[in-house]
Amino acid sequence: MNRRVFVANNLLSLVEHKNSDDRALYENWQDPATQRGYNFIRHEDFDEYTSREIKQRFFAMIRLNSTDEIIGAVGISPPESTADLAIWLFNPYRRQGYGTNAFALATEYAVKSLNIKELHAGAYPDNIGSLKMLRKCGYIPYPEGNVIEKHYLTGADVVQYDFIYKKGDDVNLFNGIGNYAQHARFWDWGGYERTEEHERWLKMAQTHGKNVLIPMCATGETGAYMAERGMNVTAFDITPEMIDEGKKRFGGLSGLRLYEGDILGFRFDIPPVDFCYCTDFGHIHSIEEVKQALACINTHLRDGGCLVVETGLRLPDAKSRCTPTETFYPQKQVYPGIKVWKTGETRNDGETGRTYTSIGTNMKKF
Ligand SMILES: C[S@@+](CC[C@H](N)C(=O)[O-])C[C@H]1O[C@@H](n2cnc3c(N)ncnc32)[C@H](O)[C@@H]1O
Repeated sequence: MNRRVFVANNLLSLVEHKNSDDRALYENWQDPATQRGYNFIRHEDFDEYTSREIKQRFFAMIRLNSTDEIIGAVGISPPESTADLAIWLFNPYRRQGYGTNAFALATEYAVKSLNIKELHAGAYPDNIGSLKMLRKCGYIPYPEGNVIEKHYLTGADVVQYDFIYKKGDDVNLFNGIGNYAQHARFWDWGGYERTEEHERWLKMAQTHGKNVLIPMCATGETGAYMAERGMNVTAFDITPEMIDEGKKRFGGLSGLRLYEGDILGFRFDIPPVDFCYCTDFGHIHSIEEVKQALACINTHLRDGGCLVVETGLRLPDAKSRCTPTETFYPQKQVYPGIKVWKTGETRNDGETGRTYTSIGTNMKKF
């Protein structure tokens, strides 16, 4: 069936709704898990349900690219209300990462194409899956928006937690990976002296050859260090602000190519690489995505080339760790008349091995 595609990534597409989707949408509302998730039972019959016009400012079906199956829907509340994103995932497709992927895609579409600056989403305290999904997609708690409701079955008070995703400078998290866009200009790895670390990667790379690939490179600091010492480096990052800043700092180096790219789906026209390393696999959200990343790396690595990955994957009996908020100062202040610093916290999830980072940048004029 031909449908307008609003936005797509390599796994899913958000596509136009057709009347033929209504049966699946209606039946999804009959599912107790949906009713629990929305603290709500729809009492209409199918005809009543389909006779209601869609009032949301955006409503789309979620389609699996590989099979064209429709697996659920996403919608943003009507224009006169606060923008609130909701998702309905049909039963057979739950707990496989599709929800998070679709929610992140819809969030991106909302802020980039619909130009919605603040997007809300709600979840109930017992809905651990949704709470995790919102965090992963870069939403942060917004307690001012919490609403006390009556439980749909018992009538007891129940709170619906509100979360917010903000576009622009205030954003606290970006794409579920940390607000790297915001602090790109000040990126300096917290002011640490990094020569020893750069040297270690350089030595390791040199034993395999000259061509090096560095995914998730941030500003490409280590790549620049290698390029200055004769290596031929391609480094890339998903955050355009990181790459822009890297080009400003290291753009003159002939041995360094800095690209924007997503580790889950990149292809660069470069010679096969001898050595690839990535220390940030902890930011990849599912084992499926780890496989996609490895497949992309594999197409760029020469036969017998070397790949080193710091997985962040769960170790047996790993405990979750939270690094309390820390303040980081750059090694030197480089902006005339402005002092900058960062505050940040990191959480390593013992259950999944994933890393969540939240960093705020601060500046003071003097
Ligand atoms: C901790 S920083 C990397 C620091 C870097 N390894 C260094 O040594 O300077 C993590 C980086 O991963 C990037 N990132 C997160 N998800 C990504 C993805 N799917 N593809 C490419 N880069 C990604 C972020 O934009 C961020 O710059």
